[in-house]
Amino acid sequence: MPIRKVDYNSVHGKYVLLRDDFNVQIENGKITDTFRIDASQSTIKHLISNGARVVICAHLGRPKGKRDEAFSLRPIAEYMNIPFVDDCLRKDFLSNMKNGDVVLMENLRFYIGEEENDDSFARELANGFDIYVNDAFAVSHRAAASLVGVTKYLPSFAGDLLVGEIENISRVLEKPEHPLVAFVGGAKVSSKIGVLKKLVTIADRVVVGGALGTTFNFAMGQPVGNSLYEPTMADTALEIMNIAREHNCEILLPLDKGVGKVFDKNAKRENRDADEVKDDDVIIDDGDKTIARNSELLKDAKTVIWNGTFGMAEWGAVWGRASFALARDLAHYTKMGKIKSIVGGGETVAALDAIDVHGDMTYVSTGGGAFLEFIEGKELPGIKALEV
Ligand code: 3PG
Repeated sequence: MPIRKVDYNSVHGKYVLLRDDFNVQIENGKITDTFRIDASQSTIKHLISNGARVVICAHLGRPKGKRDEAFSLRPIAEYMNIPFVDDCLRKDFLSNMKNGDVVLMENLRFYIGEEENDDSFARELANGFDIYVNDAFAVSHRAAASLVGVTKYLPSFAGDLLVGEIENISRVLEKPEHPLVAFVGGAKVSSKIGVLKKLVTIADRVVVGGALGTTFNFAMGQPVGNSLYEPTMADTALEIMNIAREHNCEILLPLDKGVGKVFDKNAKRENRDADEVKDDDVIIDDGDKTIARNSELLKDAKTVIWNGTFGMAEWGAVWGRASFALARDLAHYTKMGKIKSIVGGGETVAALDAIDVHGDMTYVSTGGGAFLEFIEGKELPGIKALEV
């Protein structure tokens, strides 16, 4: 379904309520990853250069309807060098705004009405504005007041980032160049069932890795030692493998593992074939044969979708070996023009950033859960609310 896009020619002098996703990591008041904020700048720039009065609303973390300074958006206003308003329902500053001004308001989730999509909260939020723009793809899978309820009270449109996400991800899903290879990692099969079931119907190969891959190894009767996996998901893993078979999609499991004796960054890394994992081994990464196999798969791939790391990439080079190897290979083939690469998910994007290949991908989504649900084909309430 087509959605309404913001028309920058009609925003002059208008009060625009702009919803962004600034849900970023902040440690000791310092933003550790600015990707989502930076990706939101296009719409902001277009709005202010066309004379709109822009008031940004956003959320951070899950403060559960209570004011909590640990979840304040103030560091983001400081990073963007724009004024900050300490309550998302304050309206007194609006009359002082001039064309081209932009401010950021405090965390929407300090009010319980936000996550509950409460109608009176939505109406109060919308009060004082002429139009609403949603540029928060990454939270558009939530039926929140600032994404859904507010659209009842204001003419509502999509911003550049939201439009870009929909177009870029849809292009890959609807008309991928084959072979299409999907890499899915992360901790849990349970959080990826929907996306795996979808991917096996459109991809030529689906590679499962990380702890998620370990659950598949377990389902196939292979030993998994003292590792993180989901024993109760074994049947689901087998079901996904059956669906894959019906769609002529090859599912590839980890062939070997990087193991330690403790789940610790400083654990000594050893390589173990998937059949030979010992009872006291802790699987922390995919192994060297798996890395080489993944690299081979890329040689004839035309499209690659990647979500979920394969090991503890956040611990650095030793336990991020499999994730960083894929990131490096993907960057290489994408830059050569051989592969169209589309990557999403917070930890996966962090792995790209860690070795500085983020900019080499064809498209990197700002979405985590939203990216998965969009691929799955689920209706995202924040997007649905903007349909023509
Ligand atoms: C995200 O970080 O994925 C979005 O901002 C959604 O956050 P939530 O899972 O807390 O709703």
